[in-house]
Amino acid sequence: MKSDPIHPPYRMLMGPGPIDADPRVLRAMSAALVGQYDPAMTGWMNETMGLYREVFRTDNQATMLIDGTSRAGIEAALVSLLEPGDRVLVPVFGRFGNLLREIAERCDAEVHVIEAPWGEVFRPEQIEQAIREVQPKLLAVVQGDTSTTMCQPLEALGEICRRHGVLFYTDVTASLAGNEFRADDWGLDAVTAGLQKCLAGPSGSAPITLSPRAVEVINRRRHVEAGLKKEGDDDARGLRIRSNYFDLAMIMDYWSEARLNHHTEATSMLYAARECARLLVEEGMDNAIARHRLHGRAMLAGVQGLGLRPFGDVDNKMHNVVGIEIPDGVDGEALRRTLIQDYAIEIGTSFGPLHGRIWRIGTMGYNARRDAVMTTLAALEQVLRHAGVTLNAGGGTGAAREIYQEG
Ligand SMILES: Cc1ncc(COP(=O)(O)O)c(C=O)c1O
Repeated sequence: MKSDPIHPPYRMLMGPGPIDADPRVLRAMSAALVGQYDPAMTGWMNETMGLYREVFRTDNQATMLIDGTSRAGIEAALVSLLEPGDRVLVPVFGRFGNLLREIAERCDAEVHVIEAPWGEVFRPEQIEQAIREVQPKLLAVVQGDTSTTMCQPLEALGEICRRHGVLFYTDVTASLAGNEFRADDWGLDAVTAGLQKCLAGPSGSAPITLSPRAVEVINRRRHVEAGLKKEGDDDARGLRIRSNYFDLAMIMDYWSEARLNHHTEATSMLYAARECARLLVEEGMDNAIARHRLHGRAMLAGVQGLGLRPFGDVDNKMHNVVGIEIPDGVDGEALRRTLIQDYAIEIGTSFGPLHGRIWRIGTMGYNARRDAVMTTLAALEQVLRHAGVTLNAGGGTGAAREIYQEG
């Protein structure tokens, strides 16, 4: 079969992720491979651990990468923390809460769900009430649910979990580096992420951090792989973790100075993940969050300035993505196709109950930039006008410019 070299068409990815990777990340990924135990490689692994401690804002020793997309991190956390029959509470306010629920069910945990309408978040009292009733081992909640654009406030939940003796896990794939997040101050025991949103990388690596409490729970189930066992190696007594690939006890051994062999670390993805974190630390986490806040405000103001309606409770939306109600009579998918064809701009569709009702526009990572916001708003105005929608002429870019003038 004859095939041509990869030559992607130019695109500006303004959806809810993936977004255009920072060129510096792509450059890092094209660096030469080294051996798994080359001191250069193990040195970069240690550096990556240190960089992600700054990104997650934690002192956790167990801060590393899971090879795979964001859901690999979620699976690793849940399959390693949950034993069959363990009770877990999952507050669901969008698609990705449902993903946590499904993965926990696959671990044969006893899963209890509370639901908020899509477009809203939970109050801490609602979650505490459910914790009282369910008495779970683990609270598993998404911070930013990309499907609805909402950002669940987490600050108060760590203290609630401590009081009730509950482990606290969150998925920050969509929100990390674009919204305030503090793993240690907020009492998180396990946190997982991905590169393809505010971290400005491609999907394929899932940074994770585990508190000493979580490490202890996981290590009670530590078993050394048969082919690696030496005389004197003793397995912990707990039930063996049901996945080999996502066995966090083994993965921690691999990332520790023991370097006990597990998978072959995906070298190019490690280069990418390291560069994503390096760039954020160089910028400063507070500055990165402020950048996402500014461009998110400009995009929101622009959408409203055009006369369009943002979706959901905008006071609780993530800085880095906005949902837009598709105006009556407009074919949402046809408009997305025109935006790509005429302007090379991709915006997002949506899932489940919101499919066909909202578009989602991201301003994240490399694309959290003024020119990206202004170009997208200008193009959106043109395609909407072409689709027969009456709009405030120049209202989108005008409103965004005002936000930039305020600074
Ligand atoms: C909040 C959240 N969690 C998990 C995922 C799943 O990520 P992946 O597709 O990288 O496995 C996504 C993807 O968009 C997400 O937004």
